[in-house]
Amino acid sequence: MIGDNGAGKSTLIKALSGALIPDEGEIYLNGALVHFHNPLDARRMGIETVYQDLAVAPALNIMENIFLGREIRRAGFLGSLFHMLDKRRMMDDTIRYMSDLKIGIQSMSQPVGTLSGGQRQGVAVARSAAFAQNVVIMDEPTAALGVKESRMVVELIRQVRTRGLPVILISHNMPLVFELADRIHIQRLGRRVAVIKPDEYSMADAVAIMTGAKEVEPAHA
Ligand SMILES: Nc1ncnc2c1ncn2[C@@H]1O[C@H](COP(=O)(O)OP(=O)(O)OP(=O)(O)O)[C@@H](O)[C@H]1O
Ligand SMILES: [Mg+2]
Repeated sequence: MIGDNGAGKSTLIKALSGALIPDEGEIYLNGALVHFHNPLDARRMGIETVYQDLAVAPALNIMENIFLGREIRRAGFLGSLFHMLDKRRMMDDTIRYMSDLKIGIQSMSQPVGTLSGGQRQGVAVARSAAFAQNVVIMDEPTAALGVKESRMVVELIRQVRTRGLPVILISHNMPLVFELADRIHIQRLGRRVAVIKPDEYSMADAVAIMTGAKEVEPAHA
């Protein structure tokens, strides 16, 4: 999804991830009408979101961030009376998620606050990829990152897609969008003005449609 600052991209994905309740319109998931009252509703329906203002907890370690709010528990020594955190299983899963996505981090028990921006972004992406059943939404995942870190996150996005999970990516980086996207949704003044295919339009055309300098052909409107 592309669009100028303030075009409504983040607002749209907040509606799709239950963080905002839209005043109008309907949301369909796999053809069925759905209603989200909060982000948990959307997560339960298999929609995972990496927000623009990155939502990781710096003081918690990687495993704790991955499982935040959905910790795995096991029966304690008094049977089902006391459920204890199943740290070994969560740690094993964390190592698997991170290595599935080829995120190189020495220790999964280091606080996320000690990681680089790219690695932190990697944790947020790994978490969404691990739990998403239907779609992963990423709002500007490379905006704050350097060249090398951006490449890493782009690689993660590719791997999520290779696993068959659709990704909705919001980005201002046109070369990246044209490299990655199957379809490009263009948002302008709060509305979708076009959905184009990257091989049918140039980058300059996409930017012109985005800013209102060019009308989209009726077939793509
Ligand atoms: N709850 C709200 N009430 C009123 N206006 C809002 C609300 N939330 C967002 N807006 C406005 O809606 C517009 C779209 O904001 P949004 O964050 O969706 O833009 P964006 O396309 O994500 O921009 P950027 O590229 O800068 O991230 C902005 O002008 C913003 O101030
Ligand atoms: Mg935004």
